[in-house]
Amino acid sequence: MSNPDHPPAVGVLDQGPELIFPPGFLWGAATAAYQIEGAATEGGRTPSIWDTFSHTEGRVVAGHTGDVACDHYHRMPSDVRLMAELGLKSYRFSVSWPRVQPGGSGPANAAGLDFYRRLVDELLGHGIEPWLTLYHWDLPQPLEDAGGWPARDTAGRFADYAELVADALGDRVTYWTTLNEPWCSAFLGYGSGVHAPGRSDGADAVRAGHHLMLGHGLAVQALRASRPEAQLGITVNLYPVTPASDAPADVDAARRIDALANRFFLDPVLRGSYPTDLAADLREVTDFGHVRDGDLAVISTPLDLVGVNYYSRHVVAAPVEGAEPEPYWRAPSCWPGSEDVRFVTRGVPVTDMNWEIDTPGLTETLRRVHEEYSDLPLYVTENGSAFVDAVVDGQVDDVDRLAYFDAHLRAAHEAINAGVPLRGYFAWSLMDNFEWAWGYTKRFGMVWIDYDSQARIPKSSARWYAEVIRRNGLAAQ
Ligand code: FCB
Repeated sequence: MSNPDHPPAVGVLDQGPELIFPPGFLWGAATAAYQIEGAATEGGRTPSIWDTFSHTEGRVVAGHTGDVACDHYHRMPSDVRLMAELGLKSYRFSVSWPRVQPGGSGPANAAGLDFYRRLVDELLGHGIEPWLTLYHWDLPQPLEDAGGWPARDTAGRFADYAELVADALGDRVTYWTTLNEPWCSAFLGYGSGVHAPGRSDGADAVRAGHHLMLGHGLAVQALRASRPEAQLGITVNLYPVTPASDAPADVDAARRIDALANRFFLDPVLRGSYPTDLAADLREVTDFGHVRDGDLAVISTPLDLVGVNYYSRHVVAAPVEGAEPEPYWRAPSCWPGSEDVRFVTRGVPVTDMNWEIDTPGLTETLRRVHEEYSDLPLYVTENGSAFVDAVVDGQVDDVDRLAYFDAHLRAAHEAINAGVPLRGYFAWSLMDNFEWAWGYTKRFGMVWIDYDSQARIPKSSARWYAEVIRRNGLAAQ
């Protein structure tokens, strides 16, 4: 689909051998509150589902918790200075709901809001555009106790929380995304249970997905009313889904997983409807009785941008008798109604998460959103890789991570050349941090964290990224 407002910028971009990005391209890095802040019980913060989950034996590798994390809560000003040294144009962070509205309802916690006011002021003071995510998975525990995301009321609570944050920060934050990766909240949190709150019920996962999107739509309406000039969006994690062969059964397996992973969210948010094949695939799981009249109109409230998180591709095949269930996000319980689909490993290079590196998948994903769904500006709100790093002579030479970023930026550039209105890119992550169920055992950062001393060491990828930002592009290959 071509869009007259966003013409392909081929002529502008092809300046010699370098790959130059469009003027004003928003170069950033991302983090999330529970993964970096620590200070779990300070300043009036109360537990979220991730505090409860990580403190429950056997849930997180090695019993790690976010209690201290990167101690960013106390080190925020120097962390912002580090961002400025790297030349970041933008910083994507999330607000901890239980820090600013302990318990998830009722009045704001002034001390909690104050932390984010100071963060935003520091960022603006260094010329760094704040990019605020309202929900990166840390639901206040009392809301989970009242039913969590499978309960409809949680959507309304989320809209109230959005309004409260808008009142406090709306005068100084332009870019707002509601949810980070609702697929993970719904299907890892309530389906497979490998994420907080650790429940495992297919129907609850589907209900959670719906109420997350309802909360998104209500929050967008609240934000729009309060800050008409804000740029509003959502971040979804998307995967190209490829059948392992042309056999019709494999093609159908890919269709099913695409419906659950991608179209479950893209269709309601950007088209105002659920895919009909999804409802058919899930008929043994749920009758969608939780969807009320008017919900889809709320969910599809117009946005200003779409955030895409991209890490890898799913390759799938039809079920075979007796196939072993696979780990983590391939766990059968992540895919209600499609539990017997097989995820195929191709033997291509993987990261330390065992995620296959699939660079063309980023171009494909961005093109798909633009060509099939929306003319809205797109942003890569996360992209990155975990690798095993080592400090040698005070340096961390993370060549694999650097190569991953470089290749994916080339893929992003290719999408721009194909006409995608891609306006920015956020590396995941600014710094090593609490990688959810993997605790501190997986490092995604451009900046090394020494968890004993809390020292920060910019890795080679950070220095390289600073240069990419400085020249607004990549060197010739
Ligand atoms: C995404 C999450 C982010 C981080 C990366 C590796 O799914 O949004 O918090 O864990 O994966």
